[in-house]
Amino acid sequence: MAMVPRLRKFALTVHLTASVGWIGAVAVYLALGVAAAISEDARTARAAWIAMELTGWSVIVPLALATLLTGIVMALGTPWGLFRHYWVLIALVLTALATGVLLLRMPTLSRLADRAREADAADLGELGNDLVHPSAGLVVLLVVMVLNMYKPRGTTRYGRRKHLAAQAVEQVRCAAAAPLAPIRRGAWHLWRCCQPFHRLSARAWWRS
Ligand code: HEM
Repeated sequence: MAMVPRLRKFALTVHLTASVGWIGAVAVYLALGVAAAISEDARTARAAWIAMELTGWSVIVPLALATLLTGIVMALGTPWGLFRHYWVLIALVLTALATGVLLLRMPTLSRLADRAREADAADLGELGNDLVHPSAGLVVLLVVMVLNMYKPRGTTRYGRRKHLAAQAVEQVRCAAAAPLAPIRRGAWHLWRCCQPFHRLSARAWWRS
């Protein structure tokens, strides 16, 4: 079902806010991850692990879910469709994959943050780092971003079938309307011809 232009603009605004916000939040997470991994100062490393958990649960997870949801709304509410164009399908798969990995990783991050809260300076080094997943996630998000901006051509088999079906319906509609065209044209000409008389009689009535 196609959205009206105002609703489409609003939905796109929410979609862009969520998706671009997600990318920014992952960049912040990576900066904290680097601080947790390399900082010599135990307090900095501990604070970084705690902030990573907080950012993950309260910013990254909601933005990821919002991006997936609004992306699906944008696809279904516009002529793009969810399964008609390869770029939408790839965006859906990559975003779903990134969200899935994120949700699976979050409990591990919570455990690491809990250990960081209680660990002394020597034990903090044993926590390792959490840089691989967010780095790969950031690359995936940027790929989806580029894909959605450029919207490369390419229609799925389902998309082509839908397109042909829509064309066939349009042809049937035109064929059904064709016999009525001369009648419509005649009615229009009659209306145009009567206009001066209408005006004259209206003026005469006004003066009387
Ligand atoms: C990290 C994930 C995503 C990012 C960064 C992202 C980014 C964007 C951007 C920047 C646009 C605006 C492009 C433009 O119209 O000029 C856009 C539009 C769009 N996105 Fe996404 N998107 C993401 C996920 C998704 C997903 C998962 C879907 C669908 C399943 C999706 C479907 C769409 C559609 C259909 C539009 C076009 C809207 C329109 O023409 O009004 N996006 N996205």
